[in-house]
Amino acid sequence: MDCFRKDFPFFSSHDIIYLDSAATAQKPYPVIEAEKEYYERWNANPFRGSHGLAIKATELYEDGRRAVAEWIGAGRAEEIIFTRNATEALNLVALQYASRVLRPEDEIVLSIVEHHSNLLPWIRLAREKNASVRYLVPDSDGLMTENEIEKVISDKTRIVAVAHVSNVLGCTLPVQSIARIAHKHGAEVIVDATQSVQHMKVNVKDLGADFLAFSAHKMTGPMGVGVLYGRYELLEMMDPLFWGGEMVGSVSEEGWVLSGIPHCFEAGTVNAAGVYGLQQAILYLESAGIGRIREKVDSLARMFMEGAASESHLHILGSARPEEHNGIISFIMDDLPAEDVAAILDGESIAVRSGYHCAQPLFEHLGIRQAVRVSIFLYNNEEDIQRTLDVLLRIREMVS
Ligand code: ALA
Repeated sequence: MDCFRKDFPFFSSHDIIYLDSAATAQKPYPVIEAEKEYYERWNANPFRGSHGLAIKATELYEDGRRAVAEWIGAGRAEEIIFTRNATEALNLVALQYASRVLRPEDEIVLSIVEHHSNLLPWIRLAREKNASVRYLVPDSDGLMTENEIEKVISDKTRIVAVAHVSNVLGCTLPVQSIARIAHKHGAEVIVDATQSVQHMKVNVKDLGADFLAFSAHKMTGPMGVGVLYGRYELLEMMDPLFWGGEMVGSVSEEGWVLSGIPHCFEAGTVNAAGVYGLQQAILYLESAGIGRIREKVDSLARMFMEGAASESHLHILGSARPEEHNGIISFIMDDLPAEDVAAILDGESIAVRSGYHCAQPLFEHLGIRQAVRVSIFLYNNEEDIQRTLDVLLRIREMVS
């Protein structure tokens, strides 16, 4: 099996089993070194100043934008806006695009698996605009027939916002079918790709995404950088959310002329070192190969699920097929609260997440309060999974 672990310095200084990559991924050397290199060699404020270093900083930042555009199949680099994170990207679409096109009585369609980041901006907006929210309810494998999608998306639908991959069930939603049906009814489609870009090749055109958001930190890049892709014609309809430095071409006492797209959406000093790091993360994932990453993650997920099957008190949420989980496996245990399971694992130096994972409506729908989530990424190995299973298989003895 591929050993990517050596590329991640985190593991040389810790004896922690890290199974919380859906919350944030560890960083490989090239990403860490890129941020260091930026501050050691290239630090200047992009877009400001005509000196050589400022020009170099601008070039590096725009190279990062081109790399992202190419990576997700955007038609042009201007369709990429850098934000702080995916949450900010999704809010930007809700506040500056959807709020402009949404009319009273319109419907916003979400899925029941959404993370609060792709839920709250829409519920709030619906309330403000006197619109309503309807939910797609995929099965535990993320599947929905076109018939079921057609029952929810109609001519009343103005906006459809869905996760590509659930951060709880790990399932992949049928975004292509959802987008095709949404477009047929004249609605725009916003895709939260936060849990998918690190596990599969994402192409905005193939998916049919009008907007797509993700965070660098979950795909081995730095924290503090998010991406919003938007179709250029739609970005042209949007006003900036933040106003200030470098998002205007000129300002007078009476008014302003905005900078072009995408710079008008990136007010203030940008996270240039972070974008440089993100570019290295893309290169790293590309050289590792998304197919090889996938193979490794699926095989460890299989090992975990097969091993967990011998503990009859442990119930995995979602699909029974490991390859349908994108490395995300949530479970509950009879009579043992998720937070206690996570605390016991933590006591054994195993990092997992417990709770409702910022997806409370999904938990209500499933009729459970909390779950433990194991999330696997390319640097995990069989020993991580075996040691975790060893604890889970004797956890009931440990607490009694
Ligand atoms: N959205 C992240 C998670 O699911 C933080 O853990």
